[in-house]
Amino acid sequence: MKQYNVAVVGATGLVGRKMTQVLEERNFPVKKLIPLASERSAGKEISFRGEKIKVQKLAPESFAGIEIALFSAGASVSREFAPIAAEAGAVAIDNSSAWRMDPEIPLVVPEVNRADIFKHHGIIANPNCSTIQMVVALKPLHDRYRIRRVVVSTYQSVTGAGQKGVDQLDEELGKKQGATKKFPHKIAFNCLPHIDVFFDDGYTKEEHKMTFETAKIMGDDSIKVTATCVRVPVFGGHSESVNIEFEKPYELKDVFAVLRKSPGLIVVDDPSNNVYPMPLDAYEKDEVFVGRIRRDDTAPNSLNMWVVSDNIRKGAATNAVQIAEELIKGRD
Ligand SMILES: NC(=O)c1ccc[n+]([C@@H]2O[C@H](COP(=O)([O-])OP(=O)(O)OC[C@H]3O[C@@H](n4cnc5c(N)ncnc54)[C@H](OP(=O)(O)O)[C@@H]3O)[C@@H](O)[C@H]2O)c1
Repeated sequence: MKQYNVAVVGATGLVGRKMTQVLEERNFPVKKLIPLASERSAGKEISFRGEKIKVQKLAPESFAGIEIALFSAGASVSREFAPIAAEAGAVAIDNSSAWRMDPEIPLVVPEVNRADIFKHHGIIANPNCSTIQMVVALKPLHDRYRIRRVVVSTYQSVTGAGQKGVDQLDEELGKKQGATKKFPHKIAFNCLPHIDVFFDDGYTKEEHKMTFETAKIMGDDSIKVTATCVRVPVFGGHSESVNIEFEKPYELKDVFAVLRKSPGLIVVDDPSNNVYPMPLDAYEKDEVFVGRIRRDDTAPNSLNMWVVSDNIRKGAATNAVQIAEELIKGRD
């Protein structure tokens, strides 16, 4: 089997560390792994397959001989360096928001739009974490009943804000000292209806991402999504309350059957025994969990469900590695 030279840009961050771990867990055919980060972390070591590898400072020359470059170092780094990686002959799979809405760049969740991978010109974008887990659950339902409108409220883990988000909550819980503040308010014992920057329309950038990325990934601009994104003091994953209005009528038992046989999705739904998806259970898992599936009788053909996933895995690292796996498998 062919082996690939793989660079991980942002290898010391929450997502980058998980990418390296996921590459190893899934036996991705790595010939050589090059961990890259800023000057701050150059010389630190990361472990890969029992070997210690020194982190290098990211530079334009870093991509010589690299075939796949996984980026998770923020949008400005991706904007500058993903084209350099592509120019050097690598395929850049980018976790930041830099390229997601560029019409020339595929935005991919393999369970939803695998074929788009092969439209790339050197850069493939990995969607926002809260969007990824939602579309994995929406896609099979859209195929069957056609979605008109989605109203989603999120309950997002501090891990979604990177290492600094985790450090702030750890400090407020008395588990750490000297952390710099990441959120504009205390996060322990609190909920902040504020993720990323506010726009003039009153929505945040995170909420816009859920609206526009969903339409792009599903390849259907007619799907309307309105979102309220909330940061909660949780470490393990993102949760979402999702209300869907379909064009066609449905039988609840058929919705369960459709979701049960969908790739990447696990139905966890037995409320009489207190069984439903929770971030503590989703932590360190690669799947998306769906439960509390029930009819919404206040509108025609409408449904409520609760969707949970580990945002660092399926919402970021695992999805990026899955894109790389599909890329090397090639077209169907
Ligand atoms: N957390 C999530 O749930 C999630 C989900 C999807 C996508 N993402 C995206 O993934 C990216 C990283 O997120 P994260 O949560 O892993 O953040 P993080 O924990 O803060 O890690 C940031 C990483 O980027 C590196 N970096 C920062 N500035 C750099 C520069 N100028 N040159 C080279 N490397 C630089 C850091 O290296 P140093 O060690 O040298 O500082 C570190 O490795 C972001 O774009 C984020 O939007 C995150």
